[in-house]
Amino acid sequence: MAIPRQAFASLLLLVLPGCLLRCTAAQSQPVGEAELLLQIKRAWGDPPMLAAWSAASSAAGAHCTWPHVGCDSAGHVSRLDLFIINRATGPVPDAVGGLSSLTHLDISNNCINGTFPTVLYHCRSLQYLDLSVNYIGGELPDNIGHGLVPNLSTLILANNEFNGTIPASLSMLRKLRHLMLDSNHLIGTVPQLGEVTSLEILWLANNPFDAGQLPTSFKNLTNLVSLQVDNCNLVGDFPSYLVKMPKLEELLLGYNSFTGTLPPEIWGLKKLQWLDVSSNNLTGDVVVDGFAAMSLVIIDVSQNKLSGTIPEVFGHLKNLTDLDLSDNNFSGEIPVSIGRLPSLMTLSLSNNRLTGTLPPKFGKHSSDLSYVDIGDNNLTGSIPEWLCSGSRLRSLLASSNRLNGSIPVGLAKCVTLVELSLENNHLSGVVPRALWVHGKLLTLFLRNNRLTGSLPVMMSNNLMMLDIGNNNFVGRIPTMALGLVHFSADNNQFSGEIPPHIGYGMPLLQQLNLANNKLSGNIG
Ligand SMILES: *[C@@H]1O[C@H](CO)[C@@H](O)[C@H](O)[C@H]1NC(C)=O
Ligand SMILES: *[C@@H]1O[C@H](CO)[C@@H](O)[C@H](O)[C@H]1NC(C)=O
Ligand SMILES: *[C@@H]1O[C@H](CO)[C@@H](O)[C@H](O)[C@H]1NC(C)=O
Ligand SMILES: *[C@@H]1O[C@H](CO)[C@@H](O)[C@H](O)[C@H]1NC(C)=O
Ligand SMILES: *[C@@H]1O[C@H](CO)[C@@H](O)[C@H](O)[C@H]1NC(C)=O
Ligand SMILES: *[C@@H]1O[C@H](CO)[C@@H](O)[C@H](O)[C@H]1NC(C)=O
Ligand SMILES: *[C@@H]1O[C@H](CO)[C@@H](O)[C@H](O)[C@H]1NC(C)=O
Ligand SMILES: *[C@@H]1O[C@H](CO)[C@@H](O)[C@H](O)[C@H]1NC(C)=O
Ligand SMILES: *[C@@H]1O[C@H](CO)[C@@H](O)[C@H](O)[C@H]1NC(C)=O
Repeated sequence: MAIPRQAFASLLLLVLPGCLLRCTAAQSQPVGEAELLLQIKRAWGDPPMLAAWSAASSAAGAHCTWPHVGCDSAGHVSRLDLFIINRATGPVPDAVGGLSSLTHLDISNNCINGTFPTVLYHCRSLQYLDLSVNYIGGELPDNIGHGLVPNLSTLILANNEFNGTIPASLSMLRKLRHLMLDSNHLIGTVPQLGEVTSLEILWLANNPFDAGQLPTSFKNLTNLVSLQVDNCNLVGDFPSYLVKMPKLEELLLGYNSFTGTLPPEIWGLKKLQWLDVSSNNLTGDVVVDGFAAMSLVIIDVSQNKLSGTIPEVFGHLKNLTDLDLSDNNFSGEIPVSIGRLPSLMTLSLSNNRLTGTLPPKFGKHSSDLSYVDIGDNNLTGSIPEWLCSGSRLRSLLASSNRLNGSIPVGLAKCVTLVELSLENNHLSGVVPRALWVHGKLLTLFLRNNRLTGSLPVMMSNNLMMLDIGNNNFVGRIPTMALGLVHFSADNNQFSGEIPPHIGYGMPLLQQLNLANNKLSGNIG
């Protein structure tokens, strides 16, 4: 009886590796490392950046001088730094497994595909492995933690196409200090890594894990410096053991579904530089008893349901560049100290219930200030004169408040400004002429105020969106605004004739609203 074809095929598969083993053993001369490097080069399609790797220059030991190759004192290849050799396409070739002294392999930022290269299990000296930013996919092998050398300290698999669950065996790699699996398609639960207490950097962000909590074993990871688990489908109360990780510098928990309050002790983490808990379901007042996090550079608690007042102590953070408290339920006044932050670049406080005035000298001491969003609050008083004093301001978004007074000349003359939204306020006075004609402004929204003044005949060519409806503007409609797409000036006191060839002067115009003015003539 004939052996069924399928069974025969699997028999062959079983036999093959043994045969290969015998064949290589019979050769009794291991393939030289120079030859292995040339095989790697060929497998990846002879990338131009490896042109200097050539058989002609492969005299004994010469390969140690090839670019991107490092050798140990015994003349064995110990390092390959092949990041961004660009056109490296195809899987990791088996030849890599022959480099038995390899300690450091970086082949990140290429177009490498295939599945996880288990051939690396042969590299028994490996300490550093970076395969990130490639197209390597499929499931991680179950035995990865037993296969890779136990001394491995860095494993970077981020930004690939890995799917399936994270193998539990990873926790056998007890010397791991850096583990980055972020931006893949990993599912299942976040693995127990509580025994890998050497971990300093753990990045799991941007994976579609099943909804679940961080494993409680994580409380063991007290050496963590950076934990990035944003966008991981995490639920449950804010993991309070995180506040007992004194080395934490980066804590990114955003875009999950954490509930409960932000533990006040979080602000006691002395080394914390980057805190991101945005887009969760956190509630309660932000309480800052025992503040010690003076190194904070970025605070993002936006898109939660946090309440209470803005902690005054935030205004004493010398290195704070970004403060985002938007889309919450904060109330009370903006502390004057916030207006003196020396490193501040972006401030987002929009969509809260803030009252009171803006710090009067806001901007004067923040020379890098470029983005201010305070819209949708209940702020009163005037717009500070100094916002653009560092000549960096690109955006001022302050719509839907109760701001009054006039638009300061310092703001109108701000040549870096790209967007200005002041609609739905109580602003009055003449709009400084500089605002209409300066170069960079793309969007200008002043609707629903009590502003007056007139527009120049020619507006800036860059202006795309202009809404000045419901104000007290007078004079003529401009004849030229080459970039304008949307123009609303309804409910004002404009007079005279609508420019007869407005289509020539505003060739990109798609929407025009001039209703309720004192205009005559037709739109041509
Ligand atoms: C890897 O990429 C090469 C070149 O783009 C392609 O020909 C090959 O089919 C890919 N292999 C896999 C396993 O995706
Ligand atoms: C293990 O790795 C460390 C560095 O992380 C290195 O100093 C040490 O020599 C390695 N030990 C072995 C046996 O490879
Ligand atoms: C992982 O991806 C591979 C190829 O892209 C696919 O064949 C396999 O079914 C996927 N596995 C899971 C668990 O999604
Ligand atoms: C915490 O780490 C210790 C070793 O430092 C280990 O014995 C213990 O099992 C770990 N706990 C968990 C929950 O992983
Ligand atoms: C927040 O909780 C509400 C119900 O309380 C729920 O509908 C919503 O989906 C949750 N949002 C997030 C981001 O978890
Ligand atoms: C602020 O940043 C500077 C420069 O990076 C650093 O030297 C200084 O220690 C930081 N200050 C605090 C309080 O962390
Ligand atoms: C906002 O905070 C106030 C107390 O300051 C509270 O009464 C109200 O319910 C909160 N609103 C939301 C949506 O959480
Ligand atoms: C602003 O204040 C007014 C009057 O105090 C109040 O009616 C309104 O609800 C407040 N708006 C917001 C967004 O808090
Ligand atoms: C702005 O409003 C405040 C009260 O909120 C008032 O005291 C002040 O006189 C107003 N300023 C102007 C210029 O209208």
